[in-house]
Amino acid sequence: MSNAAAPVTQGPDRSDGPVHVAIIMDGNGRWAAARGLPRAEGHRRGVEALRRVVRAAHDLGIRYLTIFSFSSENWSRPASEIGDLFGLLRRFIRNDLATLHGDGVRVRVIGERAGLESDICALLNEAEELTRDNTKLNLIVAFNYGSRQEIARAAQRLAREVAEGRRDPSSIDADTLGHYLDAPDIPDPDLIIRTSGEQRLSNFLMWQSAYSELVFLPIHWPDFDKAALEGAIAEYARRERRFGGLAAKTAS
Ligand code: IPE
Ligand code: IPE
Ligand code: MG
Repeated sequence: MSNAAAPVTQGPDRSDGPVHVAIIMDGNGRWAAARGLPRAEGHRRGVEALRRVVRAAHDLGIRYLTIFSFSSENWSRPASEIGDLFGLLRRFIRNDLATLHGDGVRVRVIGERAGLESDICALLNEAEELTRDNTKLNLIVAFNYGSRQEIARAAQRLAREVAEGRRDPSSIDADTLGHYLDAPDIPDPDLIIRTSGEQRLSNFLMWQSAYSELVFLPIHWPDFDKAALEGAIAEYARRERRFGGLAAKTAS
């Protein structure tokens, strides 16, 4: 979680495809329930969908892929389910890190690390360290992540600078705050996809999604595949992004 003062990419992206795709991987439990299977099996199949989508994003030349894997609010689930989800994350990193690295994927992690078990922190650090120079696809794992918490952490750090006399409050604008978020050098998501039919953000990238295009799919996450990703990207291509300005055809 560096705090480099790189500019946050904003404004119209005139290229065809999204540079940054973020996904709320939802519906594992319902997928399993519909088949009479335990929720854990839905989560296990969800990891397979994740492997597929990373490969697909890589093939499609997407530069940044953010995945919501555990929210700050998911702590309210039964301990056994939290254990299953953490176990799957451990296994995913242990089994897949070498392949991801070989494929040129850079792994980044956003979210609160304080309070996580030390072996999980070590695995997350190892993934980030090993892959830090890779340039093909940036895979950003939102783990123990909540957007309100991320913004509050940023505000806390700014407040500390003010209290220590290192910053004038009047110097704080939206860009400043953006630079104190967990991954300030990553451009805002162009496209946010949520599976399972729910149409909400559930505390995901609320700051960064100010001008993201949102695509809600009726399928559950374990059924997500390359075709679904391509379909969402096709829908994105049909949208007209205006960023508060005028439509391209009216502007000239
Ligand atoms: C997404 O599936 C996985 C996580 C939130 C970790 P869910 O577990 O939320 O599945 P549903 O929404 O209950 O079907
Ligand atoms: C959002 O899904 C969190 C993740 C996908 C990790 P939830 O299933 O937790 O969201 P709600 O509770 O339906 O809003
Ligand atoms: Mg859910």
